[in-house]
Amino acid sequence: MSQHILFDDIDEPGLATLQVYERRGGYSSLRRALQMSREEVLQNLLDSGLRGRGGAGFAMGRKASFLPKGTMDKYLVCNADESEPGTFKDRELMQKSPHMLIEGMVIAAYAADANRSFIYIRGEYELQADILEAAIAQAREAGYLGERILGSELSLSLVLHRGAGAYICGEETGLLDSLEGKRGNPRLKPPFPANQGLYQGPTLINNVETLATVPHIIRMGGENYAKIGTESSTGTKLVSVSGNVQSPGNFEITLGTPAREIIYDLAGGPFPGREIRFWFPGGSSSPVLLPEDLDLAYDFNTLAQAGSMLGSGAIIVVDDSVPVIDVALKLAKFYKHESCGKCTPCREGTNWTVKMLERLETGEATPMDLDIIASVQQQIMGNCLCVLGDAMAMPLGSMVARFRGEFEQHIEEARFRAGLGAPPEPSEVEIAGVGN
Ligand SMILES: Cc1cc2nc3c(=O)[nH]c(=O)nc-3n(C[C@H](O)[C@H](O)[C@H](O)COP(=O)(O)O)c2cc1C
Repeated sequence: MSQHILFDDIDEPGLATLQVYERRGGYSSLRRALQMSREEVLQNLLDSGLRGRGGAGFAMGRKASFLPKGTMDKYLVCNADESEPGTFKDRELMQKSPHMLIEGMVIAAYAADANRSFIYIRGEYELQADILEAAIAQAREAGYLGERILGSELSLSLVLHRGAGAYICGEETGLLDSLEGKRGNPRLKPPFPANQGLYQGPTLINNVETLATVPHIIRMGGENYAKIGTESSTGTKLVSVSGNVQSPGNFEITLGTPAREIIYDLAGGPFPGREIRFWFPGGSSSPVLLPEDLDLAYDFNTLAQAGSMLGSGAIIVVDDSVPVIDVALKLAKFYKHESCGKCTPCREGTNWTVKMLERLETGEATPMDLDIIASVQQQIMGNCLCVLGDAMAMPLGSMVARFRGEFEQHIEEARFRAGLGAPPEPSEVEIAGVGN
């Protein structure tokens, strides 16, 4: 089931230009929104049930409603850091349809009564940043940004800010610090950004895809949008599929579509002769799922009930040619590198996890080390300033728990190679590079 809303005309030549975007009906939702009161626009967002597409899945309309009333400066920040491994959907949206994002931001700013807005884009997205900058200039020129937009009471500035490529700057409060010109470190919450965000002012932060959906909600009406998908996961979702599949890419699916359809029908499934061993349903931070989970509906609640999460909507498929320990080590190294070091459980926990996994490779470890690895993950979870630590601990803990036998086999073989143990029993699982 793949209904197209965001990607309906994504490959239309020239869509990144204002001319083509307007020809395809672009900015008509903004005109419509400006004829409504702020409250009506907000009500449409609430009715739509739209949940944040950046990771946590929090209801967008509710978050916008948390901003206090008053005449102080209020901010709208678009999170275009797209730093979660496996996630590359925002890139395509910004590159091909930058005005969809800008239109969504102006409408969202109207609903939240924000007067200043920013797009924080990861440093590596140079092309997308250049395209956005050109689009912002066009939108300003055409009166969609700036003072008294389209003759209305709404005034909104929009500044594009390029980051320097740090995972932590995708975390909303780390992003705000970075945007303020400081080192990107997460802040203690509460206060939440809605009350005290950028420059201590009320701030609404949303992901690119979340904001790009807003014009479509206004076009369709919130209640109609809510009819798509499932009751608790409304609408469509852009899913980035990568890893061991034949046709990786971004696909727009209706929330609730079985994961098998996404991986096999849209992304071509595993390569001939290969089988899926496990898959990350929501980026590298999500606990891994197994082949028997492939028939689960791809939506926020179903994946949470299965012990994982939809996260940023990035499916990473791992087939039977890949040793699970390689994935675990690569992942732990990434999070260790990206940990900002501000809080101890994350700084030390990611570092220790890498060291312990490396011991598994050198033959210094025994199966008891697996218990220690698992316990370190337990101690990281829920104890960090932000969830970067959990983002390693959750998938890592799930890999050790689900593939304990393979980890033990690996330890035995490494010990034997290092002259520290008896020859291992023949492997039950035949993985290329492991046990053969
Ligand atoms: C370590 C870390 C990295 C994150 N990276 C991103 C990111 O790159 N893009 C994003 O939209 N959200 C990211 N998030 C989630 C944001 O903190 C925040 O929840 C999101 O921007 C809110 O937007 P949404 O409600 O529209 O999803 C990250 C969170 C954490 C803890």
